[in-house]
Amino acid sequence: MSDTKNVSQGITRNLTNYGDPGFAAYLRRSFARSMGYSLDSLSRPIIGIATSPSGFNNCHRSMPDLVEAVKRGVLKRGGLPIEFPTISLGEVFLSPTSMMFRNLMSMDVEEMLKAQPIDACVVIGGCDKTVPAQLMGIASANIPSIELVTGPMLAMPFEGEQLGACTDCRRFWGKYRAGEISDSSINEIEGKLATTAGSCAVMGTASTMACITEVLGMSLPGSAAIPAVHADRLRLAEACGERAMEMAVSGAPLPQDIITSKAIENALRVLLAISGSTNAVVHLAAIAGRRGIELSLDEINRISDETPVLVNLKPTGEHYMQDLFAAGGLTAVLHELKHQLHLDCLTVTGETLGDWLSEKPKWVDRDVVREFNNPYQKEGGLIALFGTLAPTGAILKRAAADADLFERTGRAVVFESLEDLSDRIDSDDLDVSPNDFLLLKNAGPKSKSCMPEAGYLPIPKKLAAKGVKDMVRISDARMSGTAFGTVVLHVSPDAASGGNLAFVQNGDEIRLSVKDKKLDLLISEQELNLRKQGWKMPETPDRGYARLYYETVTQAPLGCDFDFLRSK
Ligand code: FES
Repeated sequence: MSDTKNVSQGITRNLTNYGDPGFAAYLRRSFARSMGYSLDSLSRPIIGIATSPSGFNNCHRSMPDLVEAVKRGVLKRGGLPIEFPTISLGEVFLSPTSMMFRNLMSMDVEEMLKAQPIDACVVIGGCDKTVPAQLMGIASANIPSIELVTGPMLAMPFEGEQLGACTDCRRFWGKYRAGEISDSSINEIEGKLATTAGSCAVMGTASTMACITEVLGMSLPGSAAIPAVHADRLRLAEACGERAMEMAVSGAPLPQDIITSKAIENALRVLLAISGSTNAVVHLAAIAGRRGIELSLDEINRISDETPVLVNLKPTGEHYMQDLFAAGGLTAVLHELKHQLHLDCLTVTGETLGDWLSEKPKWVDRDVVREFNNPYQKEGGLIALFGTLAPTGAILKRAAADADLFERTGRAVVFESLEDLSDRIDSDDLDVSPNDFLLLKNAGPKSKSCMPEAGYLPIPKKLAAKGVKDMVRISDARMSGTAFGTVVLHVSPDAASGGNLAFVQNGDEIRLSVKDKKLDLLISEQELNLRKQGWKMPETPDRGYARLYYETVTQAPLGCDFDFLRSK
């Protein structure tokens, strides 16, 4: 751990380069004073507050209150809080997908942390891609920082049941497609799914990343599950401001002291125990890559087989994030996993994970957080699959899938692109039966759609109408963390970069074995090589961010980070 004392440099940190540091400091103070700061204020440590509110980001609408509370904490401890904006990624407001812009936001966060006069920072985010982008930026900038998540929405009662984004969004949409509910019902439900500030209410990607942030040690203990609208979240924000001041004065701990290979393994274990989002595998690989740590998919399988699912939350189980909060939060989960965790990992508090878990929680709701010896499911939520269809890996969320579909060979019903999928999936003459495997190509990181959450292929309407609820679905796309189904994702290498997925044809047989962790295309090597002849990489855009994206984005096992942003 870094051991530096009184390292705050305040307003004179990172001076603008005029070739005359004295002039640069004088000019900066002058312009800062033009904003009304006193010289006394400008002599204090500066705590940056990185914010990302936006009219296009519903999950961040509580941010102004959080910023005020962080400022209170900083001022209490004698620092100067200064907020600044970064870009904001509202999951459903970005085209083709927020995933395309995660790395852009990470660069924004990294560069602003490094360029501005900030002694320590509280970085606030909540929506799916925001928190991973911020953690990637923080890991690369390597200045003392605390992540503060906006917190989950509340699920609300509606006609005798709880509704919360977004597992219920998909459940009702599936019913609507199957003709089980009317136009007027779906319109009414649309207005009831997401009704408070905060991120999605289930163990989707945002909640998963909040839990991962906490176990990584990058947020204050006990923070992940506090609902966005709960007063405890404002108290937490105030505590973040106070703690950031201490970090500014000591200059420690640094992200490099916290995000270590042991901490990444802890995060992976928690991801499996909470049956978290498949997206988190990609994000965790990217965060680890920023610190030069490789996330091995084989390692996921090892950890998955020895880590039970302990949390009974949607989409795997029944409850919502507010129930996890009431049940004891992530701390209760970590206590059950304590014997499997690296307890010497450091957290932003300056203490270790072991220090944090030294006292047992007073009360835990065992309907929501199970004991290790009485788990919700015996094995971890996610596994990696390998084979001729996915030479460098694919991901399946087995905890949210139908086990009856785990060991089988199926006939491929191929969709060449997202456009092809939407054109034909509901066509009456689509040749498909419930035992077939739906397969989507060209939705991976190198595709023009930039790996959207399209891997949850809809059940063809004519099968849905007959009551088919799940089928094996395979793609190089991602899937929302809130979805449920036997959905194989992140097939890599992806089709757009010439992976074997690109050469699957209608009617080919594919073998899925969850037991053996295999995904094989059952055609001969000779036939595969024949099909590969003459294949050309799709053309890439010739300018702007899109060009940077396509030229440098890596495959899913490397986190889809840009190759030049990964640490050597
Ligand atoms: Fe932001 Fe779901 S839309 S977390």
